[in-house]
Formats: sequence, structure tokens, C-alpha cells
Amino acid sequence: MRIDVVSIFPGYLDALDLSLVGKARRDGLLDLRVHDLRDWTGDRHRTVDDTPFGGGAGMVMRPDVWGRALDDVLEGASGRQVLLVPTPSGERLTQRTVEDLATYDQLVLACGRYEGIDARVAERYAAGGVEVREISLGDYVLNGGEVAALVVVEAVARLLPGVVGNPESLVEESHGAAGLLEYPVYTKPPTWAGLDVPEILLSGHHGNIARWRRDRALERTVQRRPDMVAALPAAQLDKNDRAV
Ligand code: ADE
Repeated sequence: MRIDVVSIFPGYLDALDLSLVGKARRDGLLDLRVHDLRDWTGDRHRTVDDTPFGGGAGMVMRPDVWGRALDDVLEGASGRQVLLVPTPSGERLTQRTVEDLATYDQLVLACGRYEGIDARVAERYAAGGVEVREISLGDYVLNGGEVAALVVVEAVARLLPGVVGNPESLVEESHGAAGLLEYPVYTKPPTWAGLDVPEILLSGHHGNIARWRRDRALERTVQRRPDMVAALPAAQLDKNDRAV
């Protein structure tokens, strides 16, 4: 997969050289390219923004600069492409969205700053046949789209074949197929700070352990995310689930 990130702060994305994503890049599993939007400016000051028509506070990013940048990065690739624009007014990013994004050939992330990007940018690419999705990390406001780009790249990259060493760890997770939050996990030492690891986990009885984990997952989900419980299809429940 190819991912292009365009930002006025390309240094924000330096963390993508580290850990699993960094390794995926070095192994050739992920072709990640980070671009400086100012490379597409035409003036001495490398201007990317201007005052909003209609008045109001802050600055808006200019469509002409974004247009040149996005034309270049979209034309430089082929296959199924999607233009992602992080914004607090976008659709909420979920694991389902991430799974869908992992099926594309190219993701282009346009990181806005200030009051956002001139609305004609999304309009123009959508009208030109490019799939455009405005995505939000959640109901809070960040200073720009870079953190959302980090989130998308990491969440998508770990689904690409070969990136996560043990593919089983992709299955048994929160927001995975079970539709539940993950159960609590423990490791050595068996007693720490006067707290014992639940005995059942030391029993070696796989059936009991699986039941215990499922109960804890149900319990947590009921307490913390009643919205997820409400959305659980009946088929996801087994006859021994009591908590819901
Ligand atoms: N840019 C600013 N706030 C954001 C958010 N909550 N999600 C995605 N992009 C953003």
C-alpha cells in the first residue's frame, strides 16, 4: 500500500520511522511518503493560508496550493485511491473504517491547520471522481490533522499482511470481531503491590479461562461502552453470557 501525507509540519510524522510502522516501511510492506505542503506554494513567503471570506476568526488554507499538491500525489499513483481529510466535522473513525481503508491501493491524507481547508478542495476532487472522506478522531478539537494522520497510518498499517508478526493478535482485540472491549491482561510476577493475578489464569484450564475472559470483557463493555452493547448483534452473544 502507498500512503501520502501532506502537511505544513512534515516533522510531526517522523514517529512513523519507529516501531512496527518503521519496520514495515523498511521491509517494503508500506510505501509511506510525507510531503511539505509549502513545496507547492508559488510566492517568496511560501503562503498556504488567507483570511476567510465572510469574516470570522483565524485563517483558511488556500485551495490553489492544496490543488497543486493533491494533483501531484494522486497522479503519482494508481489503483483504488481515497483522499482523507481529518477534521473534527468528519465522520467518526472506527475500526470498521480502518479495515475498509486497508483495502485501498493509495491513501492520501491532507492535513489541514488553522480553521481548515477551503471547502472547494473536497468538492473538486469528489466531483472529479476521487473518493473523499472527511474523518474525525473524536469529539474534541486538535490543532491540525497531523495527529489524525498518525492514527490512520498506524491503525491501517498494522492490518497490512506481514506487518504484525502474530496475526492472531489482530483477532482477539478490543473493537475486533467480538464487538467487545478487551479483557484485562496480567503477567509476572503473580503477586505485586499486594495484588494477586486472578487465580483462574494460573489454573491451566483453557475453558474456564476463556469463560472468565469473556465475562470480564462483557462487564467492562457494559460499564464503559453501553453504546457498544446496544449495537451487539444477538448472534455475537453465547448462551452463557449473563452480563448483558
Ligand atoms: N483536526 C482537528 N481536530 C480533529 C479531530 N478531532 N479529528 C480529526 N482531525 C482533526
